[in-house]
Amino acid sequence: MSELRIEKVWKEYGDQIVLEDVSLTVDSRAFVALVGPSGCGKSTFLRMLLGQEQPTRGNILLDGVALPSEPGADRGVVFQRYSVFPHLTVLGNVLLGKELTASRYKARLFGAARRSAIEEARQLIAEVGLTGAEDKYPAQLSGGMQQRLALAQALIMRPKVLLLDEPFGALDPGIRAEIHTLMKRLWHETQMTVVMVTHDMREAFTLATRVVAFERRRDRPEEKERYGATITKDIAIWPPRIAGAASIFSPDRDGPVASLGHRRDDLAPLGDI
Ligand SMILES: Nc1ncnc2c1ncn2[C@@H]1O[C@H](COP(=O)(O)OP(=O)(O)OP(=O)(O)O)[C@@H](O)[C@H]1O
Ligand SMILES: [Mg+2]
Repeated sequence: MSELRIEKVWKEYGDQIVLEDVSLTVDSRAFVALVGPSGCGKSTFLRMLLGQEQPTRGNILLDGVALPSEPGADRGVVFQRYSVFPHLTVLGNVLLGKELTASRYKARLFGAARRSAIEEARQLIAEVGLTGAEDKYPAQLSGGMQQRLALAQALIMRPKVLLLDEPFGALDPGIRAEIHTLMKRLWHETQMTVVMVTHDMREAFTLATRVVAFERRRDRPEEKERYGATITKDIAIWPPRIAGAASIFSPDRDGPVASLGHRRDDLAPLGDI
């Protein structure tokens, strides 16, 4: 379970109202894409879900329990840039979360615990397609590889909720398409609920189960500070995508293919399934 409930949340910075009266329930294992004009408060909203910022009013609950007032292992985050640490190798970056939870001050693991964490990190590095790059530093990786690393770094803590702030926005279209395939597979294979901010509507409709738009209803210059943005659209993707129900033929697709009512004859027969 990993249901998020946002209840009548407001966020103000001094005199500026950024978000007003935002209410949203995100089902367990949903993939919500958050869109809206620049400056309308999407990152602020995500930071509140992370626990980095507190709402001025209103509540945020994860599985019915108020979010703690600081980021925790149950919420992972990937930003557009700077999610990974430049002075740590790929393996070091992925291990970091485990080391920090094992020992808050020394950030080291020892003996069998270290060996098992390394094994887990290597598996995850393979999952995101970075095998062979374990000893490289982020500066030696392409942008796409750095974002794969950032995903692995967030996933090793097995978060209930994965928060993504334009994580693929800086990537070339071809690389972005590859990482979309990876993202979809990870969402199908884990138990995570995902909330992703994006500027790219195509990306939103490619990945999400639901697209939520934030907007200021009153946006004249003299109104900008007095009125915040709120949810103006909430679109469920059709046909519905269901976490864990990837196509049996192609795990990055939404399946089951059989429900489309026709057979693809370019696929090898799999026998009785
Ligand atoms: N720590 C802060 N202190 C004061 N104002 C802030 C703070 N963080 C954000 N803001 C203001 O809140 C508003 C929303 O910012 P936010 O970064 O959440 O927008 P956004 O929707 O993510 O924009 P973009 O699409 O450009 O990333 C902006 O006007 C910004 O100046
Ligand atoms: Mg932002």
